[in-house]
Amino acid sequence: MEKMVIDNFNSVFKDTNTFISGHTGFKGSWLAFWLNNLHSNVSGLSLEPEKDSHWNDLDISILNNNIGDIRNYNFVEECLLKANPEIVFHLAAQPLVRESYETPIETWETNVIGTANLLQACRKLDNLKAIIVITSDKCYENIEINKGYKENDPLGGHDPYSSSKAAVEFLVSSFRKSFFSNADSPRLVTARAGNVIGGGDWSKNRLIPDVVRSSISGNPLSIRYPNSTRPWQHVLDCNYGYLQLAMKLLSESSVKENAFNFGPSQNSNATVQEILIKIKSFWPSIKWELDDKTNPHEAGFLYLNSSLSNNVLNWKPVLNLENTLEMTIDWYKNYSEGIICSKDQLSLYTKLLKDSANN
Ligand SMILES: NC(=O)c1ccc[n+]([C@@H]2O[C@H](COP(=O)([O-])OP(=O)(O)OC[C@H]3O[C@@H](n4cnc5c(N)ncnc54)[C@H](O)[C@@H]3O)[C@@H](O)[C@H]2O)c1
Repeated sequence: MEKMVIDNFNSVFKDTNTFISGHTGFKGSWLAFWLNNLHSNVSGLSLEPEKDSHWNDLDISILNNNIGDIRNYNFVEECLLKANPEIVFHLAAQPLVRESYETPIETWETNVIGTANLLQACRKLDNLKAIIVITSDKCYENIEINKGYKENDPLGGHDPYSSSKAAVEFLVSSFRKSFFSNADSPRLVTARAGNVIGGGDWSKNRLIPDVVRSSISGNPLSIRYPNSTRPWQHVLDCNYGYLQLAMKLLSESSVKENAFNFGPSQNSNATVQEILIKIKSFWPSIKWELDDKTNPHEAGFLYLNSSLSNNVLNWKPVLNLENTLEMTIDWYKNYSEGIICSKDQLSLYTKLLKDSANN
């Protein structure tokens, strides 16, 4: 029997027009799939998905599947007018730090100009109530100390990706003050999450996809920064944050804050090496070795303080680090046997979410 996805959001998304930029990506595909299971009318805008892509594996049909470039304003406006959304989730981006060293201009064009195009086009929409712009934990000025960054900490960013996300934060703040500040304007907020993992991520230079590829090829994984600490978080915990924020923005006028952190609980902060040792207990065949070449700078310490989301949105992660890794590895093991278990995992997650709300 097919597993049920429980509606944990008071049916707010049922029959509602929603729009996701980046719907074919790792996080966007899980978000579109979840909204689709909540009977939302989902439209999206993305580039053509890669051959290995969670989006292509999903059993999903959406209202408007627009494939094109967010740097093209006319295309973005056309997609948004056609979708006529009440809520926009903006995820489309060049999201990789290492890639941003290779293509800094393209990264800034996609992330910053792409966001400006989307926000400008949103001004033409009649039924829009809220826009959630996804930035990153990397938008903060990282001073490499062991503390959780709060929403009002200074923004910064060393590499072109991180600085582009800080720039998006300034852009959003300017558009909010300039164009979305009337009482009846759509609410415009940003959401900052940490290192998101889960099944279906096939990106280059990310730890879990690299682990999976190396275990398939039998070659040891080359590890660049074994002692870098990150807030590891399951994609469903992260997307639960975005949906909880969207639900509150659509249904309550009491949310006044403009930026929200969505990080895992403190004990899910772990080094790359600690994560690999844990993964090995689920997947004994994985092997790794240290890459001691000189690599471009990446942050050492990075934590988020999510007490604002806990207090204002009543959001907290459902999965601990152990469950997060187990579910992630389980997805790829199923995949290697030709099974796509995304629906089962989403059903399980919504059940855990319901149970956690009742406790
Ligand atoms: N995955 C993480 O750990 C993480 C952490 C913090 C923030 N984020 C942010 O979350 C968002 C989604 O990340 P992801 O991991 O799903 O990335 P992803 O690479 O899997 O997906 C990116 C999506 O953006 C689309 N896109 C890229 N360039 C585009 C362009 N020029 N025009 C139109 N669409 C374009 C792609 O087609 C894809 O659908 C990004 O904004 C990223 O910066 C991700």
